[in-house]
Amino acid sequence: MTNKTILVTGGAGYIGSHTCVELLNAGFTIVVVDNLSNSKIEALKRVERITEKTVVFYQADIRDKDALASVFNQHHFDAVIHFAGLKAVGESCQQPLAYYDNNVHGTLVLLQVMEQFNVTDLVFSSSATVYGDPHTVPIKENFPLSATNPYGKTKLHIEEILRDLSKADSFGAKKRPWNIAILRYFNPVGAHHSGLIGEDPNGVPNNLMPYIAQVAVGKLSQLSIFGNDYPTKDGTGVRDYIHVVDLAKGHLKALEALFSCHDDSRSCKAYNLGTGKGYSVLDMVNAFSRVTGLAIKYQFVDRREGDIAECYADPSLSADELSWQTDKNLDDMMRDTWSWQSNNPAGYA
Ligand code: NAD
Ligand code: UFG
Repeated sequence: MTNKTILVTGGAGYIGSHTCVELLNAGFTIVVVDNLSNSKIEALKRVERITEKTVVFYQADIRDKDALASVFNQHHFDAVIHFAGLKAVGESCQQPLAYYDNNVHGTLVLLQVMEQFNVTDLVFSSSATVYGDPHTVPIKENFPLSATNPYGKTKLHIEEILRDLSKADSFGAKKRPWNIAILRYFNPVGAHHSGLIGEDPNGVPNNLMPYIAQVAVGKLSQLSIFGNDYPTKDGTGVRDYIHVVDLAKGHLKALEALFSCHDDSRSCKAYNLGTGKGYSVLDMVNAFSRVTGLAIKYQFVDRREGDIAECYADPSLSADELSWQTDKNLDDMMRDTWSWQSNNPAGYA
C-alpha cells in the first residue's frame, strides 16, 4: 500500500483533512488541490502536526484545467480521491448554477485531466442524499435513486457520469479501464481525537452536530429541533451519524479494493458508508449532554422543508467487499466533537 501517491481534491475540508491524516499514517504520499473556498490552509498544517509528515499543497480550482494539468505533470498519481465540491443544500436551492458549475463541471474537468494522464482509479464522495426519500430503511445500494435539491442532483449527475465512463470502457481499447468507488456517506460527525482538526462551518451551521457544539460553547443560544411529529420513536428525525475518522478509513479501504482489482474486473461500484444505526435528534442532544455534562437548550419548531423522517444505511456491502466497518460509537462522536469545539471555539480562525 505504500509508495503510492494520491491526489486529494478538497483535502483541506472537513472529511478531506481527516482522510489526509489516515492516508499519511498509512504511508501514502499525498498531494492536495483545494481552492480554499470553504476551508483554511491551517487545517493542512494541523494534519502535518498530527502525522509529522508533509502534505504537498496546490491552491487551485478543479475547474482550472491548465492548473490541474500542471499538477498532474509534476506528480505521478496512482489514484484520485475527489472531495472538492459545494455541499450546502439550502444554498444550492438559491444558487443552482454555482452548484452545477462547481460540482458537475469541476468533476468533468478533473475526469478529462485524469484521462489525459491515464490515471483511472477514482474514489468519489457521494451522499446518502441520492436515495431521496427512501421507502424503507435500512437503505441498500440498489435502492432507487432520486434527488430533491440541486446539491443532491449534482451528486446524482456525477454518479451517472461515472457509470457512463465505466460502461464506455467496454467499447474502447483504453490501456487501463476506469476503476471507480462511489462512496455514499451518511451523516459525518465528530473530529480527530487530538482535537486539532474538525468541522469548521462558515457562519451559522446548517447541520445538527456543529449546531449543538456551538450552543454548548455559547456561540448560539439554543437549538431549534426541526419537527417532533415524524413517524419515529420520539417524533424527531432519525439519521445514521458516522464518526468522521471511521468515514476517512473507508476511503483507504476503497483504495485498497481498487488497487487489488484485476484488470478485467475494473468497474464502477457504489458503497454505503454508514453505521447501520439510526439515532434521533433527541438521542443526539441527550448523548451530547451525557458525555460532556453540558445541558443543551432546545425548542421544537416546524419541520425543515425537504427533510425526511428516517435515513440509515445497510452497510453490509462495504463490510463484504471493502472489509470496512465502523469502530467508533456515539460517545466517541460526542467526546471528539466537544474536544474540537472547546479547543477551537473560533474554528481555524
Ligand atoms: P468541505 O466543504 O469541508 O470540503 C470540501 C473542500 O473542497 C473544501 O476545502 C473546499 O474549499 C474545496 N472545494 C470546493 N470547491 C472546489 C473547487 N472548485 N476546486 C477546489 N477545491 C474546491 O466539505 P466536506 O464535508 O469535507 O465534504 C467533502 C465531500 O463530501 C463533498 O463533496 C461533499 O459534498 C461530500 N459529502 C459531505 C457530507 C457532509 O455531511 N459533510 C455528506 C455527504 C457527502
Ligand atoms: N436538525 C435539527 N436542527 C438543526 C439541524 C438539523 O433539528 O439545527 C435535524 C434535521 O431536521 C435532521 C437531523 O437533525 O433530522 C440531521 O440534520 P443535518 O442537517 O445534520 O443532516 P441531513 O441529514 O439533513 O443532511 C446531511 C447533509 C447532506 C447530506 C445528508 C446525507 O447535510 O448534505 O446528510 O448524507 F446529503
